Amino acid sequence: MTAADDSDRLRWNARHAERASFSAHRLAERALSMPLPNGPVLDLACGTSGSALLAAAHGRHVTAVDVSDMALGLLADEARRRGLGDLVTPVHADLTEWRPSSSHALVLCTGYWDRALFGPAAEAVLPGGVLAWAAFTLEARRERPHLPAEWCLSEGEPATLLPRGFAVLDMPDFGATRHLLARRL
Ligand SMILES: C[S@@+](CC[C@H](N)C(=O)[O-])C[C@H]1O[C@@H](n2cnc3c(N)ncnc32)[C@H](O)[C@@H]1O
Repeated sequence: MTAADDSDRLRWNARHAERASFSAHRLAERALSMPLPNGPVLDLACGTSGSALLAAAHGRHVTAVDVSDMALGLLADEARRRGLGDLVTPVHADLTEWRPSSSHALVLCTGYWDRALFGPAAEAVLPGGVLAWAAFTLEARRERPHLPAEWCLSEGEPATLLPRGFAVLDMPDFGATRHLLARRL
């Protein structure tokens, strides 16, 4: 990893060390309760990821990607503790560069936004599979003016950025966070 990545890694390691949660994101709970084709799950910017653990508890193989080796270590330990270690593959990578190279029944990303990642992530969804994404909207900058605009969804995003061949299932806002569920046709 480059020095710039390393500062992200260290910053996020400190945050995960301070408060690790193994609760699944509610968008992941919704997505995993929907009909999905056979196949693995990809959790992008997973953190300590209760969502990956939930997917594994559903019998899915999960690839969990994050820049924080601390978060991935905690996740791997918890997966082993729950007897799910064989189903969860942690990948230590910077998502400004890493791209999926295989297809998934569910591609999940909660609490992270990068426009350049969205298209490749959508292309990694199997036919009939689901893309689930939760991120801040620009509204979040009212309360957190320091939040860079490029980390926030603009009007209509991310649905407007979907490649052809997706149907939006829904895209509600919860305060300053938007949840997208879309199915690949
Ligand atoms: C707000 S947390 C969300 C964690 C988890 N998805 C959730 O919903 O609880 C953002 C996550 O993105 C990860 N992250 C931040 N920048 C990243 C990058 N460039 N590449 C990979 N992961 C990154 C952080 O380590 C952190 O785990």
